[in-house]
This record gives sequence, structure tokens and C-alpha cells, in this order.
Amino acid sequence: MIDSKVLFTPFNHKNIRLPNRIVMAPMTRSFCPGHVPNAKVVEYYRRRAAHGVGLIVTEGTCIDHPAANGHADVPFIYGDAALAGWKKVVDAVHGEGGKIIPQLWHVGAMRMEGSEPNPSVPSYSPSGLSFSSQKYGHTMTRDDINDVIKAFCLAAKNARDIGFDGIEVHGAHGYLLDQFFWEDTNRREDEYGGSLENRTRFTAEIVKAIRREVGSEFLIVLRWSQWKLQSYAARLVRSPGELERFLEPLVNAGVDIFHCSTHRFWEPEFKGSDLNLAGWTRKITGLPTITVGSVGLDSALNNERSDGSLGATTNSMDNLLARLEREEFDLVAVGRALIADPEWPEKIRRGQDAELKPYLRKSLETLE
Ligand code: FNR
Repeated sequence: MIDSKVLFTPFNHKNIRLPNRIVMAPMTRSFCPGHVPNAKVVEYYRRRAAHGVGLIVTEGTCIDHPAANGHADVPFIYGDAALAGWKKVVDAVHGEGGKIIPQLWHVGAMRMEGSEPNPSVPSYSPSGLSFSSQKYGHTMTRDDINDVIKAFCLAAKNARDIGFDGIEVHGAHGYLLDQFFWEDTNRREDEYGGSLENRTRFTAEIVKAIRREVGSEFLIVLRWSQWKLQSYAARLVRSPGELERFLEPLVNAGVDIFHCSTHRFWEPEFKGSDLNLAGWTRKITGLPTITVGSVGLDSALNNERSDGSLGATTNSMDNLLARLEREEFDLVAVGRALIADPEWPEKIRRGQDAELKPYLRKSLETLE
């Protein structure tokens, strides 16, 4: 039996008090017809809070920009109906003693043509390029940049007004903000392109504007990744020095916590050290970080067995807990293991390893 005590120590930062270190990773589920979280969505999040998740990060929820969304049945974070739905989610999670923040999302060039709410608008991106560097969609003007900044701000204000405990800005996985970060998709020649600092500017301006809007105490998390959905091998930064240059403007803009998205939490980020991406980010910034990637499962994202299953396992938990113990990172996000088993935190705390449920790809077909 593993000794998971460190996972169940409290975490405090600014106005947020968490009873443990377990974060539910943001996961798009596409169960929001009309882009509105309904009673099933309320119950889905309530259950995870009831079984001991410390902090829930919601699935990506689209900001109020005509080209932000690229999918059917994903939630929005604007408009009376969606906000009323989210308020029920927030109240239910708070009723269980949990905390919850929405992940604010703009898909950029990953928009599926014809998506709501404005099927006729093209994809927006830094340089009007697809990931294979073909011309695709619309190159954002300075006015477009300002519009998107305003839309992120409005989303954060909406989140605060209905009681969310903070927000997470989605800067990862090849979506709009990451398209600005990445040199392959950002070929701009103005101050938003070129150097690493310039490519970071758009997200820094978003964070700064949100901070102005929500005040100093409201939690701002930034999720970022080296990998892209289109390229698992992609790298934004190749050394600790580059990482420092990438992070500095974001820290100065007002990020509270960095959520460092990786597929396997145990993989060292740079040669010569065991630290993972969250470890390096914490070391460089001195800010709290969230690690993620295959916690509680025997295989990484998109590496399921041919029958679509992944074993539930605590094999790598000792490694995770040792890293948490030596404060390599502060919080641990759990994705698929929490889809598979809402009781994951309780079972880990009680040492009921044998009762953990395996993750099956077909569990995505229903919202339980
Ligand atoms: C995801 N992931 C994800 N990430 C994100 O930032 N926003 C999102 O909306 C989604 N959506 C999503 C849906 C589904 C079905 C899965 C499985 C994953 C990635 C997720 O947050 C997490 O980083 C990975 O799943 C890796 O963690 P686990 O599953 O290995 O614990």
C-alpha cells in the first residue's frame, strides 16, 4: 500500500484554500447541447468534488469571440443560459466543499469550419496558417488581438460574477495562444512575432488585462505545453535558459500558478536533471505549479491498448509522491483516471488500490 499522505496535505495560495493536492484536469466532454452546461454536467462535476477532488478545472469553455469555438456541444462562458448552467455547477461543487475554475478557450486555427456561434467566420490565427504551414483562415490584425483580449477579460469577469474560484487560461496543445507561442505557426513580423518574448506578448497581455479586471486576489492559472495536438514532439523551449525567457513576461503579467501539461509526469524535461516541466517551471519562477500526465494509469494519453482500455495502477505513485514531497511541484492534475473513477481520491487516500477502476475509451461515450 502506498503512503499517500503528502497528496492530502492542504494547499494555500492567495485566497484559495485546498484540502489536498488533487486537481481534476480540464477535459472536453461535449455533453453541453446548445453550449449550455445542463443537469448532467452539474452532477458530473459535483460527484468529483464529493469524492475529494481539491480543485476542479472545467473542460475548455469558449470565450465570447465569433471564432473561439470549433466543436459541437462544448460549453460557452458567456450568455445568460450558459452562465446560469455554470452557476449551478459552481454552487453544486461548493456545496460539496470543492473549488472550481473554468478553463477559458479559443481554438484559433483548430476551428472546424461552420462551427457555432458564427458558422460563416473563418479560423483566426497569428499568421493565417494551418499546422502544415498551408494558408488557412484569417491572419489576426491588431484590432482582432484587442478583441480577443477583451473576450478573455469578459470571460474572467463572468466567471468571477457567478462564483468561480479563479480561472485557467488555455495556452496549451496548439490552440490559439499556443499558435502565437510556437514559431512554426507564428510568422508575424510585428511585436507579436519573432523572438520568444514577442511570441509570449499576446498571452501576457491577456493575463495582464484579466488581472486588471479581476483584482489581485482572484486566481489566474495558465496552462501551457511543449507538445501540440498536431505534433507531440514540438518544443517551445529547448533549455532552462529559454524556459526562463518564456516564463518571465507571463510571471510579470500576473500568472499565479502554471499548469504544465505533459503526457508522462516522470519524464525529465531537460538533460542533466530529473525535474519535469512543472519542476523546472517552479524552480525558475518560484510560483506554484501543477503537474499532469498518466497519474494512476499504466499508459500515456492516446496510448491506450487496442481494446481502448488502460489499467488503473499505483505503480508510478511512489515516484509522484516523492516528487511532491520534495516540492518539485505543488499540485497534481488527474485526467482519465478521474473519468474512469470519480472515487479515485478517496480510494487512493484509503489505500484501496485493488478497487480502482480502469479507464476505457468507451467511458467517453457517457457522462457519469
Ligand atoms: C483532454 N485534455 C484537455 N486538456 C485541456 O487543456 N483542455 C481540454 O479541454 C482537454 N480535453 C480533454 C478531453 C479528454 C477526453 C482527455 C482524455 C484529455 C488533456 C487533459 O487535461 C490531460 O492533460 C491529459 O488527459 C493527460 O492527463 P491524464 O489523462 O494522463 O491524467
